[in-house]
Amino acid sequence: MRTAIVAGNWKMNGNSESINELMGALVDNLQGLDAVETLVCPPAVYLSQVKSLIGNASVALGAQNASQFESGAYTGENAPGMLVDLGCQYVILGHSERRAIFGEKDAEIAAKFAAAIEAGLTPILCVGETLEERESGNTMNVVGSQLKAVLDACGVGSFAKAVIAYEPVWAIGTGKTATPEQAQEVHRAVRAIVAEYDAEIAAGVRILYGGSVNAANAAELFANADVDGGLVGGASLKANDFIAICRAAAQA
Ligand code: 13P
Repeated sequence: MRTAIVAGNWKMNGNSESINELMGALVDNLQGLDAVETLVCPPAVYLSQVKSLIGNASVALGAQNASQFESGAYTGENAPGMLVDLGCQYVILGHSERRAIFGEKDAEIAAKFAAAIEAGLTPILCVGETLEERESGNTMNVVGSQLKAVLDACGVGSFAKAVIAYEPVWAIGTGKTATPEQAQEVHRAVRAIVAEYDAEIAAGVRILYGGSVNAANAAELFANADVDGGLVGGASLKANDFIAICRAAAQA
């Protein structure tokens, strides 16, 4: 039995005031949702603020990126150990925005994944194809090679402590969601790839769907056998929408 996760990826949005407001609503309304793990991933500069706003509430804290290095002369970077120090349990790695805009490659993402595990963080490894790749029939070639790059470099054992997020690039921030069938098809294939390495780890690994998840489509996405929750961008900035998505996951 896999416990669902709903993670809010705030991306580079918000300020101290809007975060106070959003977290106030989340802390008040996410209590008692034991069937789902809820998680927020603010910009790194707000992690401490969010941690103190969470207090004793059962909302976990995650970062949106981490360095592959432990410490030293890496201007502008945040070490995984620093994120743990601030109270993070999770870190999003290999998001398509980091791949496309900041040029992150599979090898660097695998190094970050290994460093995150080593520091005690749970990585949320993002994989996903562009529209062109989907239309040319290459979805599973792309998703499979992104996933295998990390499986081969870090070992399948590390996926006992990791989460995978399938985020089709064409669905991110576009309002175009994958259909439940499209999501399930890729999620099942992703789990089958992990199973080629280790069936037990594959059965336990949580695979989240991301890409224009909202309060209206969450329930039908989460109803699929291999969809274990969501990685939510835009809708995670609106308290009522995020709460509704968390409730949908708790009921799935
Ligand atoms: P949207 O939910 O805004 O499409 O973003 C998805 C995403 O990139 C989450 O990491």
